[in-house]
Amino acid sequence: MRKPQRSKADGLPEQVTIYEVGPRDGLQNEDAIVDVAVKAEFVRRLADAGLTTIETTSFVHPKWVPQLADAAELLATLDLPDSVRAPVLVPNERGLDRALEAGVREIAIFASATETFAKKNLNSTLDEQFAMFTPTVERALASGLAVRGYVSMCYGDPWEGDVPVGQVVEVTRRLADLGCHELSLGDTIGVATPGQVIELIDELQQAGVDVGSLAVHFHDTYGQALANTLTALREGVTTVDSSAGGLGGCPYAESATGNLATEDLVWQLDGLGITTGVDLEKLVATSVWMSQQLGKPPASRVVQALAG
Ligand code: HMG
Ligand code: MG
Repeated sequence: MRKPQRSKADGLPEQVTIYEVGPRDGLQNEDAIVDVAVKAEFVRRLADAGLTTIETTSFVHPKWVPQLADAAELLATLDLPDSVRAPVLVPNERGLDRALEAGVREIAIFASATETFAKKNLNSTLDEQFAMFTPTVERALASGLAVRGYVSMCYGDPWEGDVPVGQVVEVTRRLADLGCHELSLGDTIGVATPGQVIELIDELQQAGVDVGSLAVHFHDTYGQALANTLTALREGVTTVDSSAGGLGGCPYAESATGNLATEDLVWQLDGLGITTGVDLEKLVATSVWMSQQLGKPPASRVVQALAG
C-alpha cells in the first residue's frame, strides 16, 4: 500500500493520541440500525488497527438515539484488552447508572456552548445542563471513573449563528472545574477555520485551562477539519478526535456531517513523522469492510485513494 513520503516539520508534537469516535459519533447518525455483532466487530477491528482509545457507544435515552440503544449488549460482547480505553457518552445520572452496570471505566459528558443546542440535544437550558452534569460527574469520579467533557458548537451554531468565544470559554471552564480530565472542543457542524481555533485555544489558556487537557473534535462539513487540526497541533494540542472512514454527525444538528476521517489524519501524521500507533493499512481495510456493511462509500479521501 502506498505510504506518504516522510518529512518532519517544526513546532509539532512527537506523538498524537487519536480518540476514535466512529462507533459512537459515526453510528449514532446512520439511518439504519447496525446489528450489534457488526458494531462489536467494528470496535475489535479498530483496536486491532492500533487505536487505543475508542468511544464505543452512548448511554443516552434510547428514544433519543435508537441507533445506540443496544449499548449494554454491545459492551457485554466486547472483550477488549486493558490497554484499550473504551469511553462511552453519558448525559445524566440515569446514563451513569447504566454505564456503571456495564462496567465502564471512562465516560464523556457533553455540554453545549449555546442555549439552542442545549435545548435540542439535552432538553435543557445552558445552566440546567450543569445541574444534570454536576451530580453525574461527582458520582462518576467517586466511583473511580475518568470523565471527559465535550463542548459542542464551539465555532458556530446553526440556529444562533456566530458563537462568542467567551461563551465557549465559560462552558469549558465549568467542565474543567467539575473535574473533567480532558476537554474536547467540538465543531459540531464543521464550520470552523484556523484563526478561530487559535483564538479559542489562546483564550482558554488565558482562562487557566491547560492546553494538555484539550482535545479537538472537528466535523468536516466545509472541508476544514484537517487544516484546523494541524493548527491545533501547532498550538500544543496532542489529542485529536476522528472517525474511521469519516463516519459521523449529530442527529440533533441537521447540518452536521461526518467527523474528520481517521485515515486522513493518520496519512498526515505519518507524513509528518508523528507517532500514532495506528496501522493505516488495517484501518483502511476496516473502513472498507464497514462501508460494505452500511452499503455506502466511505467519505474518507484516503480510503477512497488507497482502496479505489
Ligand atoms: P428528557 O426527556 O428531558 O429526560 O431527555 P428526563 O430526564 O425528563 O427523563 C425522561 C425519562 O427518560 C425518564 O423515564 C428517565 O428515566 C429516562 P420515565 O421516568 O419517564 O420512565 N431517561 C433515560 N433512560 C435511559 N438512559 C438515559 C436516560 N435519561 C433519562 N440516559 C436526555 C434528556 C439528556 C436524557 C435526552 O435529551 C438525551 O438522551 N439526549 C442525548 C442526545 C444525544 O445523544 N445526542 C448526540 C450526542 S452529542 C454529539 O453528538 C456531539 C459530540 O459529538 C460533540 C460535537 O460534535 O460537538 C459529542
Ligand atoms: Mg461530534
